[in-house]
Amino acid sequence: MTAEKLLGDIIVFRDAVLEEIRNAESLGALEELRASAIGRARGRLNDFKKHLPGLPAADKPPFGQRFNAVKVELESAIDARHAELSASAPAPAALDLSMPARRQWRGAKHPVTIVMEEIEVIFRDLGFTIATGPEAEHEWYNFGALNFPPDHPAMDMHDTLYLERGGLLRTHTSPVQIRTLQSYPPPIRIIAPGNVFRRDFFDASHAPMFAQIEGMAVDEGISFVDLKATLANFANRFFGETKTRFRPSFFPFTEPSAEMDVSCRICNGAGCATCKQTGWVEILGCGMMHPSVLEAAGLNAQRYSGWAFGMGPGRMALQRFGIPDIRIEYDSDISFLEQFAQ
Ligand code: PHE
Repeated sequence: MTAEKLLGDIIVFRDAVLEEIRNAESLGALEELRASAIGRARGRLNDFKKHLPGLPAADKPPFGQRFNAVKVELESAIDARHAELSASAPAPAALDLSMPARRQWRGAKHPVTIVMEEIEVIFRDLGFTIATGPEAEHEWYNFGALNFPPDHPAMDMHDTLYLERGGLLRTHTSPVQIRTLQSYPPPIRIIAPGNVFRRDFFDASHAPMFAQIEGMAVDEGISFVDLKATLANFANRFFGETKTRFRPSFFPFTEPSAEMDVSCRICNGAGCATCKQTGWVEILGCGMMHPSVLEAAGLNAQRYSGWAFGMGPGRMALQRFGIPDIRIEYDSDISFLEQFAQ
């Protein structure tokens, strides 16, 4: 094989491959061509190199130059075609961009959470901060410090699960009153949201586990007027135009004590299962803090006075959203909960 013939054959080979590159219609075919034409392992271009040892010394450099030039030319031609093909390549079948997107599933806040957050905002505007306490509480905080005499009948409504060493699941958020008074000096204005546990029936308006929000204001010269004004302001903001009434009541830890009712929104006061046919729904208990409670928490009851309330956001959610039965709040029924998605 003469050097002249070899140089000519390389050009013929180059032109044939350039033609194949132009004709390659897919990236796969093009890459196959790259391997078979100039690939290190099986590239046909390498066949020309086998003739190199047999050439006269003077013919070797021009052959080497041409060999390298052709290799570079073919490489860039393949790269250019590669770019061309990728730009116009259709999306793979699995990625159908014309398919309508699936509606994204969104969680929603539970109606009781919505109500609790609204209550928190209203009391925050009135200058209250948020306090918390443990759900597994000590008997003394739940009863003793709150002026429940041992075995007092008032405790019947507060039966609960007892734990070891005088512990119990708290029956109300009122223990947070004591814990807060022990930790901070007056003036104090707090609300304390949290879950409580009672041996209550599970019916349209009761559940054995429910959320409460405690409220407390303690300072010098706090009176029942402050309590009524605060709760009236709150009710008007929370319920809009609604009738409220205070009924005298009893709690060991307040004196005097009252319960606040709002007119039932489910039946507009006509009477239904939720309001037990009375037209009114009790939403909170309240009263002036008993001096023994202030003393139990280490305050001078001659100097300080205060009021407290405990409200049930679960019942308030019934009123707010027109839910007829409190048990629905515990069902985790998605079609119910979804309605609260914003
Ligand atoms: N702790 C009372 C209850 O759960 C509610 C309450 C709180 C009443 C504060 C008066 C003052 O029934």
